[in-house]
Amino acid sequence: MATKNENKKETSTTKSKNQSKFSQEDAGKLTEFLIEEFKDIYYAENEILKGLKKMEAAATSKELKSGINAHYAQTQGQIKRLEEIFSLMGQKPAKKKCDAIDGILKEGESVLEDTEEGTMVRDVAIILASQKVEHYEIATYGSLAELAKTLELYEVAKILEETLHEEKSTDLSLTDVAMMSVNPKAKAE
Ligand SMILES: [Fe+2]
Ligand SMILES: [Fe+2]
Repeated sequence: MATKNENKKETSTTKSKNQSKFSQEDAGKLTEFLIEEFKDIYYAENEILKGLKKMEAAATSKELKSGINAHYAQTQGQIKRLEEIFSLMGQKPAKKKCDAIDGILKEGESVLEDTEEGTMVRDVAIILASQKVEHYEIATYGSLAELAKTLELYEVAKILEETLHEEKSTDLSLTDVAMMSVNPKAKAE
């Protein structure tokens, strides 16, 4: 009987050791995955910065131009935040090509070709393209902040949430510009 119990005890100890080893490895892989995603969004933000310059130059309405300009400055700050995150993770900032943002930005450039310079229809198209970018960023930062919390990287999560908040308010401002000014003017053109 005693031998049986000892065996039982041994089995359960081995099992719990294996389980804790498994969860540690799992967290390691999840951290690696998170770092890869940081490289992805770091690439994306740098490409978005170039896209914002083009969109600002192509926009006609003052509100839209100044809105894009303000978000350009914010995006520079978001890139700095990502560099801070890399440093908190003990990593050097690195970029990983992101096909999704390349596609969204390419589509944004093509709407410029499809619309006439100086028109409100073009501004409508710029807002539409810009909101697609913001929604991509909202999805990314929202998921990454939750993942950081899962990994108990609370400082990283806090930084990601600051950017998430900016992306959300940019999206709302774009909706405001569309509703209050650009869309009705485009309708009247
Ligand atoms: Fe951004
Ligand atoms: Fe953004």
